Amino acid sequence: MSKLQIVDHPLVQHKLTLMRDKATPSDQFRRLLREISALLCYEVTRELALEDVEIETPVATMVGRRIAGKKIVFAPILRAGMGFLDGLLDLVPTARVAHIGLYRDPETLDAVEYYFKAPPDLGARLVVVVDPMLATGHTAVAAVDRLKAYGATNLRFMCLLAAQEGVKEFQARHPDVPAWTAALDERLNEHGYIVPGLGDAGDRMFGTK
Ligand code: URA
Repeated sequence: MSKLQIVDHPLVQHKLTLMRDKATPSDQFRRLLREISALLCYEVTRELALEDVEIETPVATMVGRRIAGKKIVFAPILRAGMGFLDGLLDLVPTARVAHIGLYRDPETLDAVEYYFKAPPDLGARLVVVVDPMLATGHTAVAAVDRLKAYGATNLRFMCLLAAQEGVKEFQARHPDVPAWTAALDERLNEHGYIVPGLGDAGDRMFGTK
């Protein structure tokens, strides 16, 4: 089974509570999502391999360390995943970005793809799939299926909120993909929304409801 890590850092938990509050307006919601995404990214990238590099400081020659290998790929699932992207690129500005357009069919809650664009050499890179909400798990599973079919072999998944049901589904379908979340909520309601959750992340970000 893949590992689920809950990032319980006080800054993350504080910001998440502000985001859950229905009185928080879209501009603050977006800013908080960007800030939390950088904090989550710090954890998701904690174990990246480093390599030695010789450099010259103004005073002496030394061996420093830098991240080894090819540049990371961030893969936001449209549209709510875009809310994570700026915070991720603040921390890793040289990363590549793969866009995955998936929506949930409101009747079946199945994921339907409408857009896919990724760098061609995914097999040589770490791919971090990002979506604020892991609800049924269908969308996250479909995104990882698609990226694997395109060649990705080293993947991680990052979300803000997860429901038990979605985690179970994701771990069963992609046991090789570790996941990070800020909180694990109780359950889904009959419309597939996380309870207590924060509502529709895309609508909260873009003020579409
Ligand atoms: N997507 C959302 O935006 N919110 C949920 O609660 C579940 C899926």
